[in-house]
Amino acid sequence: MDDITALILDDHAAFRRGFARLDDAQDAEQLAAVWDTLALHLEIHAEAEELILYPHLLRQHTEDAAEETDDAIRDHNKIRDAIEAARARPVGSDAWWKAVWEARKENSEHLAEEEDEVLPDFRRHAGLDLRLELGERWLAFYGEHPSGRGLTFTDKDPKRYIQEHG
Ligand SMILES: [Fe+2]
Ligand SMILES: [Fe+2]
Repeated sequence: MDDITALILDDHAAFRRGFARLDDAQDAEQLAAVWDTLALHLEIHAEAEELILYPHLLRQHTEDAAEETDDAIRDHNKIRDAIEAARARPVGSDAWWKAVWEARKENSEHLAEEEDEVLPDFRRHAGLDLRLELGERWLAFYGEHPSGRGLTFTDKDPKRYIQEHG
């Protein structure tokens, strides 16, 4: 049984390792292998957070929940947009690196916000039972969508998301 916040931290560590691996890739084939895996994981992770974590954060009605969620959805959108931009460019080209670097920068800032603001807030208000229950749902979600199967990775309107889940 895993606490959802521990599972999220595991993913975040994987993202940092993935971006670091890009630094060591020797050619376009290696870049594509690392990036395709990383980009897909980033997309599934954002989707999982939007389905499982943020609705609960909003329901806790803490002082900062709406603002933190608004920030997170905007960040997820920026990361999704950068992944989309990279997809349209030849792997390893300057334009590709620009898009990948945008994703890296946005992601690093976003992870810091989640780890220093969102997750502490969530932990303070969620009981251990809820954290474990959501951890189970998190793992089930990944299991139900191997390689992202059945998911569409689309940007979301932060205001509408908060209205729907708040
Ligand atoms: Fe995250
Ligand atoms: Fe996130």
